[in-house]
Amino acid sequence: MCGIVGFTGNRAAVPVLIEGLTTLEYRGYDSAGVTLQTKDGIKTVKTKGRIKVLEDKINELGSFDATCGIGHTRWATHGAPSDRNSHPHENMEGTIALVHNGIIENYLELKTALIAEGVEFKSDTDSEVVAHLFSKFYKGNGLEAMMETCKHLRGSYAIAVTCSDNKDEMICTRQDNPLIVGLGKGENMIASDIPAIMSITKDFIVVGDNEIVRVKPDSVEVFDSEGNAIEKEVQTVNWDIQGAQKEGYDHFMIKEIMEQPKAVRNTITSRITDNDMPNLMEEGVGADVFKNVRNIHIVACGSAFYAGMAGKIAFERLARIPVVANVASEFRYSDPIIDENDICLVISQSGETADTLAAMREAKARGAKTIAVVNVLASSAAREADHVIYTWAGPEIAVATTKAYSAQLSVMYLLALTAAKARGTLSDEQIAGYCRDLRDLPDMIEETLGSRETMEELAKLYHERNDSFFIGRGIDYMACQEGSLKLKEIAYVHSEAYAGGELKHGPISLIEEGTPVVALACEESLYEKQISNIKSVKARGAKVILVTNGDFDIDPDMCDHVVKIAKCPFFMAASLSIIPVQFYAYYVGVFRGCDIDKPRNLAKSVTVE
Ligand code: F6R
Repeated sequence: MCGIVGFTGNRAAVPVLIEGLTTLEYRGYDSAGVTLQTKDGIKTVKTKGRIKVLEDKINELGSFDATCGIGHTRWATHGAPSDRNSHPHENMEGTIALVHNGIIENYLELKTALIAEGVEFKSDTDSEVVAHLFSKFYKGNGLEAMMETCKHLRGSYAIAVTCSDNKDEMICTRQDNPLIVGLGKGENMIASDIPAIMSITKDFIVVGDNEIVRVKPDSVEVFDSEGNAIEKEVQTVNWDIQGAQKEGYDHFMIKEIMEQPKAVRNTITSRITDNDMPNLMEEGVGADVFKNVRNIHIVACGSAFYAGMAGKIAFERLARIPVVANVASEFRYSDPIIDENDICLVISQSGETADTLAAMREAKARGAKTIAVVNVLASSAAREADHVIYTWAGPEIAVATTKAYSAQLSVMYLLALTAAKARGTLSDEQIAGYCRDLRDLPDMIEETLGSRETMEELAKLYHERNDSFFIGRGIDYMACQEGSLKLKEIAYVHSEAYAGGELKHGPISLIEEGTPVVALACEESLYEKQISNIKSVKARGAKVILVTNGDFDIDPDMCDHVVKIAKCPFFMAASLSIIPVQFYAYYVGVFRGCDIDKPRNLAKSVTVE
């Protein structure tokens, strides 16, 4: 998972590449580099560190007159982050440069053969193999060289190459990794994701698996793996670049937390009819999809999986359909019991997560109908699923998801209500009532954003603690898991999410004087049970932050701090309780001096297994 970018046109390439790479930094940020087409041949500048370090290094070297170049921002897999392992990689003669996102599984075999032929390697990466292989096959025609190169590659890749004897040309291809071509006027770009092309255009095409593209300032030609020309549909981005900028906020994460009312509103509004019914007909998801389904298998990773766990509660309790929720990396190797009687519901912000895609393909191969809930337009999951339901959260830049998670939850509710209607498990009046509640949800989220200051104060109080617990039951437990993940990933605090009733079976021994425990109590039928669980941690010295929508009496034996949130239908409660928890994790991270938008060791789009 790295970001690649390329530009060819009639203006200076460096600022365009740097701007593009900066928007892609969420995909990896341990090193970066560019190769520029200059009048003296190709020039590569690369370095360990962030894009800013690269930019400074380029500036130190003076100005480049290049109008064509490729660039890369890296998340290391093969070879530690270092100057020499950074991309682009060149062939031995320094006439060809290549950037790669993905993993070449048979790189060792290829490398051994190339070394035997006399090739000298300069890095420890798998990617450099592709540069030398391409060079071996290059006889002045990039398309032919790329076709031949791909025949030898096993793995996943998005690749872009530029050669010194074709000064304004880029050749690219992909297999299981994202690649788009931005179409400007007299200038074109290639990139891993849409925000990277927005400085020149909103029009783009999505490169399909095994397609090869030749990009010049005035032309973009797409070929299949045999070299036959193919026509592509041009798509247009329907949001503005401001969506991918901080707009005065300190971090993308806090901006994206604050954008959640809008993300949910955009996702649900056109999907609830005037007579208050869920309507996913535009996506082809009507009653027939759920009427006779046997099981729903929800498959996702990380936060998307936790959104799926909340979805499980909605499906089971509203539509009485059994749901199996699986993390994608386990599902795909579990010989899953799934066939044409089942639905595989895939959830993914990026639509490019390798494990999620593989799990979806596994389910599809076994005959299941696939529905993908995806945020990124035209991503792989969106293209491959039988039905795609977009979350209209807009671009999510912070590595830790917030607004996409909230939008995913809202799609879970719409789907569960659609299923309940199809199965007749709720009356039309009940469904209409829930749809009205769903329509009110963005305003309720807005109101819950008012907890920001309180959570900042609590974070200030507890940010030095290295261990934390989140406890909840039912839907609260699902939100706890997401909250705990947020605290781990952005604040580097060891944190456990436990079902309230499960604590006494072991982990309660970890509670000691001063351990912060965030307790959620938003499911009315479980208040009493949860209160007992909370009291048992309080009695052992925990500092309890209670987030609740309950009107019950709160005594000093129960908690140290109370954050009151509004009441909503039980199955939607995670949409509100997660807001203070996100603020808490964010501010703990801020007070601990963490790199909020780019936490260590992580990347936004996990395109490796
Ligand atoms: C956590 C987070 C990750 C992602 C996971 C799946 O904040 O963002 O856990 O949810 O990597 O990514 P997508 O949704 O792109 O498939």
